[in-house]
Amino acid sequence: MALHWAVDNIPAGEIPLFTATAGATTMRNPTLPSELDVQVELPTIMPRSKTRPSVRLTEAQRAIEQDAEIPYLTEQELIERIQQLRKERNAVILAHNYQLPIIQDLADFVGDSLQLSQQAAQTDAPVIVFCGVHFMAETAAILCPDRTVLIPDPEAGCSLAATVTAEEVRQWKQNHPDGVVVAYVNTNADVKAEADYCCTSSNAVKVVQSIPEDKEILFLPDMFLGLYVQRMTGRKVHLWLGECHVHAGFRAEDIARALESYPDADLLLHPECGCVSQCMFALAAGDLPAERTFVHSTGGMVRHVRESRAPIHLVATEVGMLHRLQKEAPHKQYIPVKADAICEYMKTITLPKLYRALRDMVYPVRVEEPIRSRARKAIDRMLEVV
Ligand code: 13P
Ligand code: SF4
Repeated sequence: MALHWAVDNIPAGEIPLFTATAGATTMRNPTLPSELDVQVELPTIMPRSKTRPSVRLTEAQRAIEQDAEIPYLTEQELIERIQQLRKERNAVILAHNYQLPIIQDLADFVGDSLQLSQQAAQTDAPVIVFCGVHFMAETAAILCPDRTVLIPDPEAGCSLAATVTAEEVRQWKQNHPDGVVVAYVNTNADVKAEADYCCTSSNAVKVVQSIPEDKEILFLPDMFLGLYVQRMTGRKVHLWLGECHVHAGFRAEDIARALESYPDADLLLHPECGCVSQCMFALAAGDLPAERTFVHSTGGMVRHVRESRAPIHLVATEVGMLHRLQKEAPHKQYIPVKADAICEYMKTITLPKLYRALRDMVYPVRVEEPIRSRARKAIDRMLEVV
């Protein structure tokens, strides 16, 4: 039975990005040549990101609404209390580039997944308040078991991390006993514990290049990043068929149209985007302008706008990025390629929740042994390859 692989927000069948054969492991994109066929592992439920849990009314949000103090505080009062408490607690506030502007503005450090892990590994602050999604706070907890790591809302999950379980990785490894497992950092701790290496979007290519050529690679869970890695390294990579619901919705037509509408602009494309392999092929064929098209992690995007001469940047990732870029290089213009690319998980972290995290020391994130030590090995390898 042939399955048409369509991305979230696009009705199945309308844009058959990939055609896979159920029970088989070869996937091909009809718009790409057959040498770009890939080996995939079909997850149990397809597409996995469609099963993502709702975060409309989380337990932390309910606690805020029922709180005796917080609903009566103005934004300014909340900020003043946060400033006072962070000093008293000697806390460091780390925030991902997709966080709400007010959270980014209050943070001690704002960065991409790799930079946040590096910051967590380096800080000597006894309390780390992690404003990002749960796997990021877990990574900090794995790196700093002697510190208190808090996340203001533990239901800040990640649709991509939710596409694979530790049991599924164990089964996958059984089918490829000599395979080396490379897990994107967007995974839960027990999945990292099954991996040989972790990577982020900023060092995935280097991590795979550092693995001996004769080794089979099992890359999980993001198939689009995996396709990108395969293309950049020329290595045979087995892919897990996971996706991020926010990035899967970016289409090659949107990218081409944006580049055409803004001839002076550079395009910044996150490697999780659903169209990244089509764009890579269009670049190689000369159908997209190579001198203006750049695939970057969110940290790479920040470096790019600092250094580029382009007056306008088209941003193909989650829209929280625009605030970060605007602060970094305010004299330039930033246009979102998809204005509705919003990660609801990142946006669950709000000012009242950040205040409550510092006031009540909630919610602690801990990773117990032996998962912690096993996951730590894979994360350390990620931090070695920068
Ligand atoms: P970066 O590592 O590029 O910040 O990406 C993290 C992420 O979750 C992208 O969706
Ligand atoms: Fe996860 Fe996608 Fe949100 Fe990134 S944007 S945290 S990959 S759901």
